[in-house]
Amino acid sequence: MKTTIQLKEMKRNNEKITMVTAYDFPSAKLAEQAEVDMLLVGDSLGMVVLGYQSTIEVTVEDMIHHGKSVTRGAPSTFVVIDMPFMSCHLSLEKAMEHAQKIMQLTNAQALKVEGASPLILELVERLTMAGVPVIGHLGLTPQSVNVLGGYRVQGKDRDSARQLITNANNLEKAGAISIVLECVPYQLAKHITDQLSIPTIGIGAGAECDGQVLVYHDILQYGVEFTPAFVKKYAEVGKITKDAIAKYCADVKAQQFPGNSHRFTMDSSLLNEITG
Ligand code: KIV
Ligand code: NA
Repeated sequence: MKTTIQLKEMKRNNEKITMVTAYDFPSAKLAEQAEVDMLLVGDSLGMVVLGYQSTIEVTVEDMIHHGKSVTRGAPSTFVVIDMPFMSCHLSLEKAMEHAQKIMQLTNAQALKVEGASPLILELVERLTMAGVPVIGHLGLTPQSVNVLGGYRVQGKDRDSARQLITNANNLEKAGAISIVLECVPYQLAKHITDQLSIPTIGIGAGAECDGQVLVYHDILQYGVEFTPAFVKKYAEVGKITKDAIAKYCADVKAQQFPGNSHRFTMDSSLLNEITG
């Protein structure tokens, strides 16, 4: 399993960090077998596997339920769990309680929080002091989609670019071990990456970030309707799945399944005996 120290070393050595999301036991197991550096139980799970409208519907309980299955599936991989919508914003104490619950019940290695508000910065500091590594998340922060006015690139104008740089520096100062940059112009992501001593992990933020993260179902094209432009499609698992299930259904209808090799047998004379 990667350590926070190793992740920082990877940045210094210009060795790219790989991260992919996972939401359940088999996806975590396969990602671990593929030797990914870090797994993220993202709150994207709300949209990708629970069918919610946005990540706003995701609860702490959802994250714990799925987080547990991921750490069971990938016991040797560094697992990060998203703090879901509003779980960090009611008060510092409430946020600490949610963090404690998620860490203790899931056995994850770190938490991820969106934004860099004063409360989030204080939370990152407090969690770090308490022994919980925290990853920041800047740029497009989906939990704020209704404030941002949609899923769009962030940091393109003077003010928002300046703010992003300040936020990244503040997160590092607060003790964050890494920062996810989502939908940020590559030039800005590169500048932030060069400035920080902690690794940046990009999604739609160019090749200059220290690492990359993508959503599992996007990479595999598994059950996703819309694919953002920054995604590279590595497989057509949705199509393979649909074809396989259609073939199974056709086989059953045509009485081609089950075959003789898929059934169990018993002594026929015994059945005759008891049924007369
Ligand atoms: O929830 C998620 O999947 C994420 C990644 C896209 C960074 O936060
Ligand atoms: Na997320």
